[in-house]
Amino acid sequence: MKISVNDLHFAYPNGVEVLRELSFEISSGERVAIIGQNGAGKSTLVKHFNGLLKPSRGFVTIGDWDTQSHTVAQMAQRVGFLFQNPDEQIFKRRVFDEVAFGPSNLGLSPEEIERHVSAALSRVGLSDMREMHPYDLLPARRKLVALASVLAMETPILVLDEPTIGQDGRGLARLGALIDDLTQQGKTIITISHDMDFCAEHFERIMVMKQGRMLIDGATHDVFARFELLAEAFLEPPQMTRLGRALGLPETVTTVNEFLGAYAKTREPRH
Ligand SMILES: Nc1ncnc2c1ncn2[C@@H]1O[C@H](COP(=O)(O)OP(=O)(O)OP(=O)(O)O)[C@@H](O)[C@H]1O
Ligand SMILES: [Mg+2]
Repeated sequence: MKISVNDLHFAYPNGVEVLRELSFEISSGERVAIIGQNGAGKSTLVKHFNGLLKPSRGFVTIGDWDTQSHTVAQMAQRVGFLFQNPDEQIFKRRVFDEVAFGPSNLGLSPEEIERHVSAALSRVGLSDMREMHPYDLLPARRKLVALASVLAMETPILVLDEPTIGQDGRGLARLGALIDDLTQQGKTIITISHDMDFCAEHFERIMVMKQGRMLIDGATHDVFARFELLAEAFLEPPQMTRLGRALGLPETVTTVNEFLGAYAKTREPRH
C-alpha cells in the first residue's frame, strides 16, 4: 500500500508553518528512517500518515484513501502508529487490556484477541507483564506496551516515532530483529530515530529533515556518505561510516558487517 505526499504544507493553529513543500512516495514494503534535529518537523510529518493532522495545503494518500476524507479510526486500519510519548497512547490499567483494545475494536473473537495479544507481547518481550499496570513499568517498557498494541492491529503500514529512546542493548537488538521480521512479512515501516547506527543497520532509505523541509531523501549509503549536507542538519553519520572514512576505506560503509568486509579487502595481499 503506497503512501503519497503531494506538496504538503502544514501550520499549527498558532500559524507557524512547520512543514513546507514536501512531496514524496513510499512504496509497499519499504523501510524508511526519518532523521533530523529536534523540532525539524519529523513527528508532525508522520502524524499526517494516520490522519491525526491534516494538511494545510497539498494532500496525503494512503493507498486509495485521502487522509482528508477519512477518520483517524479508519486510518488506523491501515497505519499503526507508535507515539513518541507513549503516555499519549496508553489509557488502560492492565497491559493485556491496552494491547487488546485495538483488536477488540476490529470485532475479533476472544480467542483471536488472545492470540493477537500474546503474539504481540511476546514479540516485544513483555509476555510476563500482561497483568501489570502500564504505569508500574519504566517509560522504556511502557513504550514497548504501546508498540505491542500497534503490532496487535496487524496493519500493512507501521509508523514508529522514536522506538529506540531509552532502550538498552537488548531492547535495541529485539527492536532491530522485530523490524527485520516485519519487513519479511512485507510491511512498510517508517521510523523516526536519533540513533544513526540503528537507522543504518535496519533501514534502506533515509529522509533527512531540516526546518520543515526535506534536505535529503535517498538510499542509506548515499545519504550517509554526504557528511557536509548532514552537518547542515546538525547530524553525524553512523560510527562505522566515520571510522571507515577516518581509516581511508575506499567505499562508504554504514554497518559493522560492511566495515569488516571493506576493511578485510584492504588487508588482502596484492598480486
Ligand atoms: N501542538 C503544537 N503546537 C504548536 N507548535 C508545535 C506543536 N507541536 C510541535 N510544534 C512545533 O512544530 C515544530 C516541529 O515539531 P515536531 O515535534 O514535529 O519536531 P520533531 O522533528 O519531531 O522534533 P523532536 O526530535 O524533538 O521530536 C517545532 O518547532 C515545534 O515546536
Ligand atoms: Mg518528534
